[in-house]
Amino acid sequence: MKIGIFFGSSTGTTEDVAGRIGKALNVDSSDIHNVSDADAAMIESYDLLVLGSSTWGVGELQDDWYDGIKKFKAANLQGKKVALFGLGDSGSFSDTFCDAMGIIKGELAGAGVTFIGEVPADDYSFDSSVSVEGGNFVGLALDEVNEDYKTDERISRWVASLSL
Ligand SMILES: Cc1cc2nc3c(=O)[nH]c(=O)nc-3n(C[C@H](O)[C@H](O)[C@H](O)COP(=O)(O)O)c2cc1C
Repeated sequence: MKIGIFFGSSTGTTEDVAGRIGKALNVDSSDIHNVSDADAAMIESYDLLVLGSSTWGVGELQDDWYDGIKKFKAANLQGKKVALFGLGDSGSFSDTFCDAMGIIKGELAGAGVTFIGEVPADDYSFDSSVSVEGGNFVGLALDEVNEDYKTDERISRWVASLSL
């Protein structure tokens, strides 16, 4: 299964985590992309798309994902798997914690992809997130502001749960 990681990152946190997830998944660094550099051929060359965005504003996508998501929607994603990860701040933005994952999932609904990599939300302290469905985050939520000490274990548990 060919894995490509695409990230959008304003201050480098999601980029750093994309590299750490890439290591855990044995993904070559040449298959880790800033979403700004994505094009349809690149996107379509992968079987599993690992998509990462931090959340900005109040529950908004990271800036580069506004154009980025259009490229994914224009590509043929039929039959592909998608695993989402998100960076946020559950202390200062407890009502919109890691919302970007849910936004990306909503944008790709109907694209013919299968989402994998849900994570139980009870491991986190926050009030609300559009990324939670039925008690689970739709992807791997990470908080490098308040819980950076949990990140490595969360990544390894998540990667193991993907059962690729
Ligand atoms: C102005 C501002 C708005 C933010 N809004 C949110 C938010 O709504 N929800 C959230 O979970 N995190 C929010 N964050 C936290 C960032 O997502 C977090 O710092 C993240 O690690 C940044 O990752 P990046 O450097 O890859 O962009 C916000 C941070 C700032 C500075």
